[in-house]
Amino acid sequence: MHEQATVDSWWRGAAIYQLYVRSFADGNGDGIGDLPGARAHLPYLAELGVDAIWFNPWYPSPMFDGGYDIAGYRSIDPAFGTLADADTFIAEAHALGIRIIIDIVPNHGSIEHPWFRAALAANPGSAERSRFWFRPGRGAGGELPPNNWQSMFGGPAWTRVTEADGTPGEWYLHLFAPEQPDFNWDCPAVRAEFEDVLRFWFSRGIDGIRIDSAALLCKDPGLPDTEPGQAPGPAHPYIDRDEVHEIYRSWRAIADSAKGRVLIGEIWLPDAARLNRYVSHDEMHTVFNFPYLSCPWDPAALRRVIDQTLALGGPAGTPATWVLSNHDVDRIVSRLGRADSAFDLDRRRYFHDFPVDLELGTARARAAALLTMALPGSVYIYQGEELGLWEVQDIPDELRQDPMFYRTSGADPGRDGCRVPLPWAGTEPPFGFSPAGATREPWLPQPKEWRDLTVAAESASGDSMLRLYLTALAIRRSERAFRDTPLAWQPAADGVLAFDRGTFDRVTRDGGALDGGACVRCVANLSPGPVGLPPHSAVLLASGPLTNGMLPPDTTVWLRMGSLGLGGQTHDQSWDG
Ligand code: NOJ
Ligand code: CA
Repeated sequence: MHEQATVDSWWRGAAIYQLYVRSFADGNGDGIGDLPGARAHLPYLAELGVDAIWFNPWYPSPMFDGGYDIAGYRSIDPAFGTLADADTFIAEAHALGIRIIIDIVPNHGSIEHPWFRAALAANPGSAERSRFWFRPGRGAGGELPPNNWQSMFGGPAWTRVTEADGTPGEWYLHLFAPEQPDFNWDCPAVRAEFEDVLRFWFSRGIDGIRIDSAALLCKDPGLPDTEPGQAPGPAHPYIDRDEVHEIYRSWRAIADSAKGRVLIGEIWLPDAARLNRYVSHDEMHTVFNFPYLSCPWDPAALRRVIDQTLALGGPAGTPATWVLSNHDVDRIVSRLGRADSAFDLDRRRYFHDFPVDLELGTARARAAALLTMALPGSVYIYQGEELGLWEVQDIPDELRQDPMFYRTSGADPGRDGCRVPLPWAGTEPPFGFSPAGATREPWLPQPKEWRDLTVAAESASGDSMLRLYLTALAIRRSERAFRDTPLAWQPAADGVLAFDRGTFDRVTRDGGALDGGACVRCVANLSPGPVGLPPHSAVLLASGPLTNGMLPPDTTVWLRMGSLGLGGQTHDQSWDG
């Protein structure tokens, strides 16, 4: 029974690899990543030691928003492969012990979704239009949008259509790009459709769902204007309205029809208590930790966000999630190499105007990786993070694809810089991303300097980022101290974060108790000078070389505390062993 509980809640401490399929590996040489390409690298992910893969949307899409504009929810984009390729991938991943999480986008579809096409062809007031938010415009001739809502990508959140008779007609709502019309979740057909989509994918064997823009689905049907600075919550016309929880309760019931499935919410909310309402025994299992992902490389700020995260998770027994980067934000090496190392989606231009110190950013990203992987809960690794790739900030404007760039006339540089195809091998682009004889170049250009950051180059180097991730993930998986134990802060010098895992006596599966010998301390030095280390029995791993036994700035170390003889565990012995 205990065994079963552990298997079913695999996600509690999982290392989850985010696979942005378009940029991972191109199997057929058209410059676009695809499922056969990704499948060929499954052994790489198995060796890396991840427990699950989260796929960004892989569905048919005109790609106005990198696949977050979905034209059909039950198949695969032809550029990525076929449903059979997905089935094969799922089966092969499972055979390697890797679970599969897919992205579901319920807030909006695509202008190419059959429902939207039908809505355009139908009349105002029709059932076809009721699945979206169609409204007449304001002004004498309906020439003004129905309200003042703004698109998250800039500009009004409404676009006017031309009716079948050629006259200017109603407007439809899109909280993102005009090519992403919002579904109307008051419409029972929308609810039924998504419940069926969930069942469809669960029946194909997927293990979890990442829910896109999860707090935006429900709208105030009166569609009132937003007030300046209006906070999300029940009174907001579309962010974090209370009705949205009913939807996730129905989804949880579907997920719970088999064991071991997880619902993960993408929710950006400033109010942690409101955020936590999405996580419970009858809604989502976890939500992404965006405060951590946005936190500067500052010891006090990091400690605060870690404490807040853990305090929130506590009462519901929900494990934390720890995220350093994803396909929407600047790559961690660049972020931590700037004088302002925070991140804010709405101020990307501000951050991009700081020079990036790549050497400093890389050292800090290494330290951040060990800090993150030592925290209790699950950890997300965005593809390329394990290689130390940086944000490509100099993509020529004409090659950029992100609607954020176009909708803001370039004021927001957009997200292309973190989506550049991965370098696998070789000394020049496409660095093995596409096979020899490829007919097209990678869909975004790769910096030539990435020849030193290919998987092949980093595999051959003892101190690469890839080696650090491989070793850290192996230790994280095998050390009993890292297994669902709480964190206990330890006294440390100014600017230093130190905590223990596995300090508390816990009865283990085989009836033994953790003792001092099995405790691991994580020490991260964010101060400007080197610091001494506490007495320890072994250095398990350090993000950079120690100097004369001291921990240099921007370096993290994992120490085994206590005497070795007591616990008897070394990192090559597993919990199950
Ligand atoms: C969040 C996704 O992560 C992002 O990439 C996308 O543009 C928006 N949701 C809209 O779907
Ligand atoms: Ca391809």
